[in-house]
Amino acid sequence: MIVETPGLDVDDIDLDASVVAVGHELDSVTTPPPLVLVVFGASGDLTARKLLPAIASLADHGALPAGFAVVGVARTAWSDDDFRNVALKAVPKPTAAWKEVVKRFRYISGEYADPDTFEQLRVVLDDADKTYGTSGNRIFYLATVPDLFGPVATALGKHGCSTPGPDGAFARLLVEKPFGRDLQGALALNATLHEAFDESSIFRIDHYMGKETVQNVLALRFANAIFEPVWNRRYIDNIQITVAEQLGVEHRGGFYETAGALRDIVQNHVMQVLALTLMEPPAAIAAQSIRDEKVKLLQAVVIPSVDEAVGAAVRAQYTTGFIEGNEVPGYRQEPDVDPYSRIETFVAMKLAVDNWRWAGVPIYIRTGKRLPKRSTEVTLEFQRVPHLAFGGALTRDLRPNALILRIQPDDGICLRFGAKVPGEAFRVRSVGMDFSYAETFPGPRTDGYERLLHDAMIGDATLFIRTDEVEQAWRIADPFLEAWSEDGVPLAHYQAGTWGPREAELLLARDLRRWRDP
Ligand code: BG6
Repeated sequence: MIVETPGLDVDDIDLDASVVAVGHELDSVTTPPPLVLVVFGASGDLTARKLLPAIASLADHGALPAGFAVVGVARTAWSDDDFRNVALKAVPKPTAAWKEVVKRFRYISGEYADPDTFEQLRVVLDDADKTYGTSGNRIFYLATVPDLFGPVATALGKHGCSTPGPDGAFARLLVEKPFGRDLQGALALNATLHEAFDESSIFRIDHYMGKETVQNVLALRFANAIFEPVWNRRYIDNIQITVAEQLGVEHRGGFYETAGALRDIVQNHVMQVLALTLMEPPAAIAAQSIRDEKVKLLQAVVIPSVDEAVGAAVRAQYTTGFIEGNEVPGYRQEPDVDPYSRIETFVAMKLAVDNWRWAGVPIYIRTGKRLPKRSTEVTLEFQRVPHLAFGGALTRDLRPNALILRIQPDDGICLRFGAKVPGEAFRVRSVGMDFSYAETFPGPRTDGYERLLHDAMIGDATLFIRTDEVEQAWRIADPFLEAWSEDGVPLAHYQAGTWGPREAELLLARDLRRWRDP
């Protein structure tokens, strides 16, 4: 029987509407409500290098509200004008729009433990509300050293700054990483923050989540039908996540001595990339759905015992070597580093995810400073074909199929597959089919801070890290830290400018696998 719909023509049906899009559009500029951004640590490196350029860029894109002001707080004895000059110098060419915004910058010089600092802050905030119509809305950005996160949040609570104002005004807290030094520290820090701020008002930043190409993992997986069917243990043999840096510790030796690569990169940036790559499809591209799925995935990561952690990870430190032909010092010779330091600048580890989708698929992670080049990428290596009919010699240069998500630099996606080499013999070797972000979407790219700041201003928490995510990521990292603190794992060394120690190669070789060369 044919059912007829009277009066309905095929042209009346919107065929594209069969998939419903949700979440706020990444490209559309939603103007935030009026607000004051208070930056603690305003005279520091992070403010100058990341925050001020990000605010300037938002100003240039017309993405700041008309009622907007910035208050810097730090110990350095600066005046309002000193802070304004730093803000102007933070961008190569200050535009008229940026110069206008900078006129609304105020600066409070004071100790973070001194109640007077926060009393002054209250006065300046009230004044901003009257002068610029910022309506009691505040964002407090903690760009200080981590030890001050708790005390500043507590002081904000004590001085009535963390309580949302009347008429729906908001008071949000933006916190930089690191969120604690281990699980215990993270639990304590979260408890302190929660005394002053509700979880829904806490926006924990991991700048990797602001990167376009990290967000593109979601687009690749959930806007395409062709990848999802093979995105599981039936087709994937192993997953490799590499975060390689060419730089050393630069002038951050003092900080790095308290951190090391596992705390600095693996517990946060790598765990975020891992969660987005392996999680189940979310119901919506929205804060709760995405964060729920990330947490579920992190909960499925097998937490090794301390003994298991010993065999599942390699830690190493760089020694003097060459980067692009120039001699560079070893880690122990860097400024502010203990000449006998046992802090790792390189980590390689193997993790497992015990769930329906990934059981049995090893996840290999490596990160390091002073590696031959800067490269962050995720490789999903597929299983080999069940029977290779071409013969060993003819397939010498054939690697398993792989999908490579290049996060930076040279962002893009590459599919590795075998192709016949022209000629008479049936020689097959690996070739790549490449998508380059820069070629398809030319134009400047931000490093994530602009996007994250804007999202915090409009109250979209999708790309921020929830308490349970942070804590679960520490649960995974803790056994490795414990194994290392007991010196159960020897500290290996690698020459600057190489891909890490031999032990990192062995970690895969003993599973009959090898790292992909980025
Ligand atoms: C930071 C680390 O979080 O990330 C640094 O503290 C590291 O040590 C940096 O260099 C890497 O960020 P990106 O965006 O350059 O990959």
